[in-house]
Amino acid sequence: MKRFRLGLFVFVLFCYIVEIGGLKCSETEFCSYLRDRPTADIYTVDINSIQIDDMGIIKFNILARIGYEDLEVYIYAYKDDILRVKIKEFNSTRFELSDVFAGAPNLAGVSSVDTEAIQMTITTNIGSRVVVKFAPFSLDFYRNEILELVLNGERLFVDNPQNSQSFSVGLSFPRSDHLYGLHEHATGLILRRTENDDPYRMYNLDHAEYPINDTASVYGAVPFIYGHGPEVTAGVFLHNAAQQFVDILPDQMAYFMAEAGTLDLFVFLGPTPAEILRQYLLITGVSYMPPLWSLGYHQSRYSYLTQEEVKDVVANFDNYNFQLDAIWLDIDHTDGQRYFTWNPDTFSDPIEMQNNISATNRKLVAISDPHIKVEKGYSVYDGALENEFFVKNSDGSVFEGTEVFQSGGTPLMYCLREVLPWC
Ligand SMILES: *[C@@H]1O[C@H](CO)[C@@H](O)[C@H](O)[C@H]1NC(C)=O
Ligand SMILES: *[C@@H]1O[C@H](CO)[C@@H](O)[C@H](O)[C@H]1NC(C)=O
Ligand SMILES: *[C@@H]1O[C@H](CO)[C@@H](O)[C@H](O)[C@H]1NC(C)=O
Repeated sequence: MKRFRLGLFVFVLFCYIVEIGGLKCSETEFCSYLRDRPTADIYTVDINSIQIDDMGIIKFNILARIGYEDLEVYIYAYKDDILRVKIKEFNSTRFELSDVFAGAPNLAGVSSVDTEAIQMTITTNIGSRVVVKFAPFSLDFYRNEILELVLNGERLFVDNPQNSQSFSVGLSFPRSDHLYGLHEHATGLILRRTENDDPYRMYNLDHAEYPINDTASVYGAVPFIYGHGPEVTAGVFLHNAAQQFVDILPDQMAYFMAEAGTLDLFVFLGPTPAEILRQYLLITGVSYMPPLWSLGYHQSRYSYLTQEEVKDVVANFDNYNFQLDAIWLDIDHTDGQRYFTWNPDTFSDPIEMQNNISATNRKLVAISDPHIKVEKGYSVYDGALENEFFVKNSDGSVFEGTEVFQSGGTPLMYCLREVLPWC
């Protein structure tokens, strides 16, 4: 697949690689293709393929029109009104996330499957229902006889992996007045219609001078969306870490366009906002309780150049009677931009500096970014290279980042469980 590098520039600011302006849907190949693709009913259910295993997991095939790939669909019913749908090619080699869950959710099992001429109704042991429409294929999700969510067949498309790994899916929230979620963007909490605008982009980056009230991505990307109305709240989590764009369309439809990975959706039937959050957290886990000081005032800038400067800044907070709970150091405290070191000339006594700061009941945070200076003889570089802790290119060679600083850098795989204890 062609890389969509058009319109992407890198620039030094703060501590990360920055896309000036961020990429729009029209500047990325998969999004412009999926967005402009006419809506079409591509898939129909192969009724002879329906299977239910001992655990109550339903599997069937959906046959595609000529020119498209047939797919297989898995439906899982979990306790706590959570359902899951996976759709992928036969013998799929797509990437599937494996370490996101807080713990495997408990399967609820299926109490009945009623097959009629045009549809089949799956009733779970906890009473929720999934109606599978055969031609065109679509899925309706009910709780207490209320239709809460529709997986819209005409907006489903899984590209042939020979072309690209991209896919799209349309999800409607018929009982909702507004949609919320898809954090984080510098705009209002209610997700706004985007057909005449750029879709919400989901892609983690340090977007310098990001525009306000815009659907461009910033630091975090959480593909969790929920629709809220007077009767019910329903939610969906797309368990996929690839870049995504999401259009918010009429009839409370969220149209997800993903660059790669597997179409793996968790459906939360609520019915209240608190239940939606509880169901989501059952899957992803809860965050740690933050230490009290982390909620206070933090003074952070790029960057303080000497320990004297740090001392002065802290003293001035006291002189002017400003609250201060923590002060941050960016890369300039290091010896030649080697993280986990101190510059012996400008930060000659880091222990005394820290003792002075903690004597006034404040914390010092020394940033250690994931990009490690490429330099033989620097112990962190040598050790990470030997342990294969660096991010790699698809050919197995070590990926080296853009020259962010004069040192360049290669990113550490902090997501590997072995890396943090080693640091
Ligand atoms: C999937 O793999 C199995 C086992 O290798 C093979 O028999 C089958 O034909 C494959 N199916 C498709 C659609 O490629
Ligand atoms: C935010 O942008 C939307 C869509 O362009 C616009 O309708 C709305 O008025 C803007 N809100 C603010 C506070 O600027
Ligand atoms: C620590 O505090 C003492 C007393 O105010 C001061 O003389 C010294 O310079 C401080 N050291 C650092 C490294 O900030």
